Amino acid sequence: MAEILSATPTLSFERPVTLAPTVIPSERVAVVTGANQGLGFGIVKGLCEQFDGYIYLTARDKKKGAEALQVLKDMKVCKHPEKLRFHELNILNEEHTDDFYHHLKQEHGGIDILINNAAIAYKRGSTVPFAEQVENTIRTNYLALVRTCVFLFPLLRRHGRVVNLSSSAGHLSQISNFELKKRLMEDCLTEKKLTDIMYEVMDITKEHPKAHVEMGWPDSAYAISKIGVNLLTRIYQTKFDSELGDQDRVINAVHPGFVATNMSSYLGNVNIFEAAKAPLHLALLPPHVKEPRGQFVWSNCSIVDWDAPDKPTRPEVYKHINVTHPREYVKVYSVPGVTTRAHG
Ligand SMILES: NC(=O)c1ccc[n+]([C@@H]2O[C@H](COP(=O)([O-])OP(=O)(O)OC[C@H]3O[C@@H](n4cnc5c(N)ncnc54)[C@H](OP(=O)(O)O)[C@@H]3O)[C@@H](O)[C@H]2O)c1
Repeated sequence: MAEILSATPTLSFERPVTLAPTVIPSERVAVVTGANQGLGFGIVKGLCEQFDGYIYLTARDKKKGAEALQVLKDMKVCKHPEKLRFHELNILNEEHTDDFYHHLKQEHGGIDILINNAAIAYKRGSTVPFAEQVENTIRTNYLALVRTCVFLFPLLRRHGRVVNLSSSAGHLSQISNFELKKRLMEDCLTEKKLTDIMYEVMDITKEHPKAHVEMGWPDSAYAISKIGVNLLTRIYQTKFDSELGDQDRVINAVHPGFVATNMSSYLGNVNIFEAAKAPLHLALLPPHVKEPRGQFVWSNCSIVDWDAPDKPTRPEVYKHINVTHPREYVKVYSVPGVTTRAHG
């Protein structure tokens, strides 16, 4: 298996050479990564309710993916159940991504929505050495996301919408060193330079476990990877905007809130369906939308200032959620990890 873990930093946005057809076909296509559980599952459910085209629920585990698909069908929420599909996709596996690219190209000729949701996070208190956490987290959350984009962007049709699931942890206020922040915010930062910087962080944490903090990076592998995702989003939108013709392709990054999923050990104060609202809003942005384009968007759909000295405080949107017993969740569905809070 051609795992990205053994790959050298050769990823480049320059790879795509052809643009997908500019005519919007009648059958649009949406793709969600890491959708067998958690927020990805919630987003697919929302698409089932709101989107008329084909929806690809993808997962790295075939069995879990097929089960999640069945759960959605049983929930009877799909406007077009026959258009809900599963495809195996481990984003770390280059062969999977390539295979998926060819499948989409052959079956549909292009895609209209790409939601990069799949990610990992080590639990607080994890005993895995920090350098290993940084390596694995950056490889999944940043490098594999880059590769997904590099492979699938050539299929992205006119008015294509890309949503990168980021996090409040990726807000640039998390960087304590002014010079580092300046370097990351430079207009001339390219995907290649950013990827080099991500490899640089991996290397320095191997040399000394706290070297990254001295450089101004947050002391969290997850936060570093999501800072990368946010910066990448800006870079890709600039690239989209420089395309010839009227492609109107839009990419945004979103913080979905503190969500009750496996990643948060189900401690989040918002359920997966509520948290899916902002990613869905971005995925379904109308043609020629003026903003957000290449922005960092908060869970209440507001645009966040990159340069703000601090990240926003939790928005009002949480207040209507009944958090009487924050640790009480029930397994509503049979798929492991697909849980939701029981509302009265
Ligand atoms: N939960 C929160 O409070 C929160 C807050 C801010 C941002 N986010 C972001 O929201 C997104 C979804 O998070 P979540 O809370 O729903 O997490 P989750 O419940 O842990 O789900 C993560 C999903 O990603 C999949 N995944 C991990 N590595 C993969 C790989 N190599 N290839 C394909 N799929 C892979 C997992 O598959 P398996 O089931 O096979 O492991 C799972 O389906 C992430 O990008 C996360 O960073 C979450």
